[in-house]
Amino acid sequence: MKVITTVNEMALWSDGNLSSGRTIGLVPTMGALHSGHISLVNKALSANDLVVVSVFVNPIQFNSASDLDRYPRTFDADSALLGQAGVDVMFFPSVKEVYPAGGIVEYDLEGLDEHMEGPNRPGHFNGVVQVVTRLFDIVKPNAAYFGEKDFQQLAIIRHAAAKLGYGLNVVGCPTVREEDGLAKSSRNALLTDEFRQRAPVIFEVLEESMGLIAEKGIQKTKAHAMAMMTAQQLRPEYFELVRPDTLQPVTDDWDGPVQACVAAWAGEVRLIDNLRVK
Ligand code: PAF
Repeated sequence: MKVITTVNEMALWSDGNLSSGRTIGLVPTMGALHSGHISLVNKALSANDLVVVSVFVNPIQFNSASDLDRYPRTFDADSALLGQAGVDVMFFPSVKEVYPAGGIVEYDLEGLDEHMEGPNRPGHFNGVVQVVTRLFDIVKPNAAYFGEKDFQQLAIIRHAAAKLGYGLNVVGCPTVREEDGLAKSSRNALLTDEFRQRAPVIFEVLEESMGLIAEKGIQKTKAHAMAMMTAQQLRPEYFELVRPDTLQPVTDDWDGPVQACVAAWAGEVRLIDNLRVK
């Protein structure tokens, strides 16, 4: 596996391979890789001639300096894992390489960021779209792979890629879970033992809401989920039931599909998860 750290070298590698007719799959990550990421890598490997995994902790998508500082950085373990998985290139650029001119580009996310992560993490999705489109411009992949765990992120990236005219396939990959249901996340490594034991309540409330919506209605289902998480000493930020296409909250008269989405603090660690519940 090649480790590339400069934008020039990455772009040259991609241009050379694309002009020889090879397809490239890109898996954008912020590192601290786990088996959830490897499932994206495997999907990319099965559908492309070559696979690039970017490892870049994107400062402009963090809401606080302390969250950015605390984000785990595990270059040696990440490169070993990617090498074993059969990845062709690990793209590991510096902040200066990715954002040589600095500056924030503003995107109109057309309401997809109005609820859930949007109001709770102002500027977050704007930063995600900026880095992902920058990676698309550098690597020029035929397809890019993202986890469904970040449901709102996936919808926003799909929307932005289509609107900005990137002719690539944005592929969503199923959430990988621990045995007790906790969604795999790089942040899980930061959980204390106590909150690691309590955190699976997040998946429990998602699963329970499947039956509760029909029985109790939308508002009571949401209130029940919030109360269950609080009873486990988590601090839920939201438990929302939304339309998967518009990400707008549903009401009892909505007859179509429903995605339950949740964010909760387990001690000092913010976790998110989601599930199709109808
Ligand atoms: O999901 C993530 O890890 C990040 O938001 C992404 C897509 C790599 C952009 O920095």
